[in-house]
Amino acid sequence: MLGSFKQAISYLARQNARLLHRSTVVSSGAIFNHVDTPENNANTPFDFTKENYERIEAIKANYPEGHKVASVMPILDLAQRQHGWLPISAMNKVAELLDVPPMRVYEVATFYTMYNRNPVGKYHLQLCTTTPCMLCGSDNILEVIQKKLGIKVGETTKDGLFTLVEAECLGACVNAPMIQINDMYYEDLKASDMEEILNDLINGKEPKPGPRSGRFACEPLGGLTSLIEPPTGPGFGVRDDL
Ligand code: FES
Repeated sequence: MLGSFKQAISYLARQNARLLHRSTVVSSGAIFNHVDTPENNANTPFDFTKENYERIEAIKANYPEGHKVASVMPILDLAQRQHGWLPISAMNKVAELLDVPPMRVYEVATFYTMYNRNPVGKYHLQLCTTTPCMLCGSDNILEVIQKKLGIKVGETTKDGLFTLVEAECLGACVNAPMIQINDMYYEDLKASDMEEILNDLINGKEPKPGPRSGRFACEPLGGLTSLIEPPTGPGFGVRDDL
């Protein structure tokens, strides 16, 4: 009797644990709220260049009347590329150009981790440590970076060259483990590959992006296993009388 009572209590405790609401774990290097700093506040000088104003017009032209605000993402991206990162004054400028309350722009900029709302180094190292990459050795890659550059996740090297963050799945799991550096993906990494990539960057060279395993993209390493015959011609499998 006592045994079944204990079982019931432990069952209820388990059920209750599942019902408990908890805040989402913050797993990226970024925080969601803005904190004014000397280099990032509403008075941080920012304005688009003449060329970028032209680009903005071209971007907005892609969207129908009444829906121009949908261009907020590419315009924020443009601001970030021009400035190197995205100060709040740039977000305010984008809101002004799109004629929306600044909050509409903040909502977007804080949701997507591609927007760097604080200064980052010349090379933004975004190491994926989500399950497939972790199972394929992203911990070793992380260790190599931390040791070589002397920084931890969320930190920037003193020379302003590298910023290291952990990223959630970057959509290249088939080539795990991988890292995104600025706009480029480096995949199928071993510790020695990461070392080589960092050396190249330190020496001002441009490391070759893509898989390091010798494969072209994400095809099987041992050769193709499907789509290995010539494709069938038009009309294949269609009824003769059609
Ligand atoms: S888990 Fe690393 S790219 Fe998907």
